[in-house]
Amino acid sequence: MGFSPLSVLLIFAIGPLRCFATFAPRWDDVQAKHTWSSIPENWQNLGHPPAGTTVDLHVALKAQNETALIDALHEVSNPGNPKYGAHLSREQVAELAAPAPDVLQLVGTWLKHHGVPSSTIATKHGGSWLTLTGVPVSRANELLSASYQLYQHIGTNETVLRTLSYGLPTALITHVQTVAPTTHFGSPRTSRQKPLMRPDGAAGVQTKVPAGEPRTVLTGRDESPPVTPSFLRRLYKTSRYVPFAADRNMLGVVGFLDQYPSPDDLTLFMNQYRSDATSATFKVVPDDPFVNWLDYVLVQEKVPQTISINYGAEEYKVPPDHAGFVCNLFAWLGMRGASVLLSSGDDGVGLGSCLFTDGYGNSRVKFVPTFPSTCPWITSVGATTGYYPEVAASLSGGGFSVYFPRPPYQNQGVPDFLRNLGSQYSDFYNPGGCGVPDISLQAINYLYVLNKQPWTMTGTSCSTPTAAGIISLLNDYMISTGRRPLGFLNFWLYGRGLSGLNDITSGSNPGCKTDGFSAVPGWDPVRPA
Ligand SMILES: *[C@@H]1O[C@H](CO)[C@@H](O)[C@H](O)[C@H]1NC(C)=O
Ligand SMILES: *[C@@H]1O[C@H](CO)[C@@H](O)[C@H](O)[C@H]1NC(C)=O
Repeated sequence: MGFSPLSVLLIFAIGPLRCFATFAPRWDDVQAKHTWSSIPENWQNLGHPPAGTTVDLHVALKAQNETALIDALHEVSNPGNPKYGAHLSREQVAELAAPAPDVLQLVGTWLKHHGVPSSTIATKHGGSWLTLTGVPVSRANELLSASYQLYQHIGTNETVLRTLSYGLPTALITHVQTVAPTTHFGSPRTSRQKPLMRPDGAAGVQTKVPAGEPRTVLTGRDESPPVTPSFLRRLYKTSRYVPFAADRNMLGVVGFLDQYPSPDDLTLFMNQYRSDATSATFKVVPDDPFVNWLDYVLVQEKVPQTISINYGAEEYKVPPDHAGFVCNLFAWLGMRGASVLLSSGDDGVGLGSCLFTDGYGNSRVKFVPTFPSTCPWITSVGATTGYYPEVAASLSGGGFSVYFPRPPYQNQGVPDFLRNLGSQYSDFYNPGGCGVPDISLQAINYLYVLNKQPWTMTGTSCSTPTAAGIISLLNDYMISTGRRPLGFLNFWLYGRGLSGLNDITSGSNPGCKTDGFSAVPGWDPVRPA
């Protein structure tokens, strides 16, 4: 009697499983996870750390079913879906994000093999995040086929422990999203945008408003009178809205790098320019690098309904595994019901010449989008100026992600733009990438108060909190009428929400020694307000 096809199938199905259970994987069969070919720009090597140095390692594991995770975000964020607005709890997100149980077990076996004491391992976020405390550098080097050394940032003198490459056993590599710290050098300090960049190229100049009352009316003849709350409220038609749900509605402004709001200056600003709102206050969240901040906010039982973030780095400087990790965490925030507004950058399509050497030693221009504005699960905010008509501001960061593919909500507008663009810049950007930004607002010549003096400044660091302010008013309306907050905005923004936007059709975002992209009717990378 021969084998029936069914029994052959059974042997195939059972055989490898049994082997897997009986023999431990070959932990010395290692594949590279991420490698830099040279030390990242602006960092210098200080050599090996002193003997006895330890490092806390964070191992982020992938969700058992990553498709299901993003599907859940679609469901609660897409106005056409029956589950729209049914945002998830912290526990529900952790459950969706959890790795498969056998993956956790496998990771445990690997750590045990390398002598990592179980008492130093903590799990978080439903097991998707492992923290190994106090790992000696020699053991970290073995675990990750790494060479941890000290690197100093040229400029800030910040010293960090990093490796130029790391790897993982083949048996694990597809289950691990990233390990930190490893090859991600950029910290918010180095990735901070230049909020004071002026379109005339006078970078970093704070312009003190001349003595006398700043102009707050729309009728001035000047090209660009200082942007004030009353100007913004008129332009974006929010003047008549009175918030009802201030006791339940929260707006989070993320501050890193010892940048924190000054209560005195806020009071002065509010007294002078928003005398009806002088009781506005904020909670100062301690300064924290990006991931620490996401970690912090995601374990809170309640997250702010609207969040404004003004930081970003050139996408290519962020390792893809780390960028994917951070972008996933933004998807978690969206599932929790937060609208995250994030600045698109202040360098148009890129700063400087944007020349990169390809595999054949030839220099080529590549536009430089900024991360995390290229993450599809946040709402990126670009820059406009002027009024009647409002036009794209030339500094407006915009383009296409190299790492993240075009998300489904961009399938309407973005292909039209690309078709009209034709072959222009065709080697300079990734036409299949997520388009940036999603919306744009006034960003030039904002009035603000510092050390009791009025100043003006310019950049997407101005337009982003403005966008967050408007979305927060909409969230106030939703909450005060007994509905769920808007949550992740883009399915709505690119669908029904489009009718509430003013299409910006002129201006461009030069950079990389090119004219950049031009604003046109419909979606474009210098886009709508
Ligand atoms: C992952 O989840 C999706 C639902 O979002 C489901 O269709 C698919 O079958 C799941 N895949 C696995 C391997 O469980
Ligand atoms: C960094 O170190 C150099 C040399 O010691 C020093 O001149 C410079 O002022 C330091 N920079 C900062 C930002 O501390």
